[in-house]
Amino acid sequence: MKHNGIEFDTYFKNYPDENGFFGKYGGSYIPEDLQKAMDEITQAYYTICKSSKFISELRRIRKEFQGRPTPISYLERLSSTVGDVQLYVKREDLNHTGAHKLNHCMGEALLAKYMGKKKVIAETGAGQHGVALATAAAYFGLECDIYMGAVDIKKQAPNVARMKILGANVVEVTHGLATLKEAVDAAFEAYCKEYKNAIYCIGSVVGPHPFPMMVRDFQSVVGIEAREQFVGMTGELPDAVVACVGGGSNAMGMFSGFLNDPVDIYGVEPLGRGTALGDHAASLKYGTEGIMHGFNSIMLKDENGEPAPVYSVASGLDYPSSGPEHAFLHDIGRVKYDVVNDEETIDAFFSLSRLEGIIPAIESSHAVAYALKLAKKMGKGSILINLSGRGDKDMDYIIEKYGIR
Ligand SMILES: Cc1ncc(COP(=O)(O)O)c(C=O)c1O
Repeated sequence: MKHNGIEFDTYFKNYPDENGFFGKYGGSYIPEDLQKAMDEITQAYYTICKSSKFISELRRIRKEFQGRPTPISYLERLSSTVGDVQLYVKREDLNHTGAHKLNHCMGEALLAKYMGKKKVIAETGAGQHGVALATAAAYFGLECDIYMGAVDIKKQAPNVARMKILGANVVEVTHGLATLKEAVDAAFEAYCKEYKNAIYCIGSVVGPHPFPMMVRDFQSVVGIEAREQFVGMTGELPDAVVACVGGGSNAMGMFSGFLNDPVDIYGVEPLGRGTALGDHAASLKYGTEGIMHGFNSIMLKDENGEPAPVYSVASGLDYPSSGPEHAFLHDIGRVKYDVVNDEETIDAFFSLSRLEGIIPAIESSHAVAYALKLAKKMGKGSILINLSGRGDKDMDYIIEKYGIR
């Protein structure tokens, strides 16, 4: 399938190019010393991760440890609220640790083991990536340092406890807004000092090459499974696929299964409290081209051209940029990026819980909220939503802030 001059039959061979570019986005904008570390990871990825030994070990882990494949569920009662549109969810909430993040963490930690590294380092926002990496580190016997903003530590206390129980060292980041962006800054700084012994396991399809490609490839299991399962269940492809976008890993995993199909694809960003800068984190919708955390993408900037302060009710979505592949798919129009606000998200959180018995993560609730709006616009057809994670981590916060609806 061709879209705006881009051939999607051969897309994964051509994107990214050998320097990590998706069109003008991506690349690697980092100090020379760190570039050496990235080159080592890139080489290892191309050789080790493509070997049949690595692939079969990861396949076994996914089946025996993670509990893959995760199912697709038809949402009968929720669908009945939107007329003639059938809603389905890909259940990444049922992946071990309760979110899609373990898909790339097990891959990254297995790579670390093959490379002889002793430690994994990462940032986390909602804590899901931190929990997933702490889990992977425990599984492979690696040390684990997780950098987390003080604000998120307070908001996501159950995940902080889980990381500690799993043996990870949780490092509190207190500068700036003390959320995800600052956690990434601090984790990168630590990695620069420790790269000989450690490997940075980034939490999304962001950062310098090869991370956007590597994380997408590890997450593509979601889209591959989902496409096969959906066709098996319904005999056809979904009309639309929807996923929330923070850095963009769950979305890229899901979308990669459908890019070459006649399926409408929607990425959903957080509009938070409104359109004013600082009240949302909808970087693809409102941002401009810029470099941050070692990659070129679309980002929200303040008046000095620096990454702008961002906000979302979802800790995992409040990041002032998104992965370079999303910026590329945005510009060529293959994926449409749109927004939902906090209120719509909280409504969707309760709707899915009450009508289907599934408590979604606040991040994933953004995708559910958008699918409900989209369904009303479509009138008929089918929508497959990536339910990126479960909402146990968010329950205390939601009850305290919004009460029971
Ligand atoms: C459940 C869940 N979904 C989505 C996200 C957003 O990350 P990404 O955009 O990389 O999928 C997070 C991040 O923490 C998350 O925990």
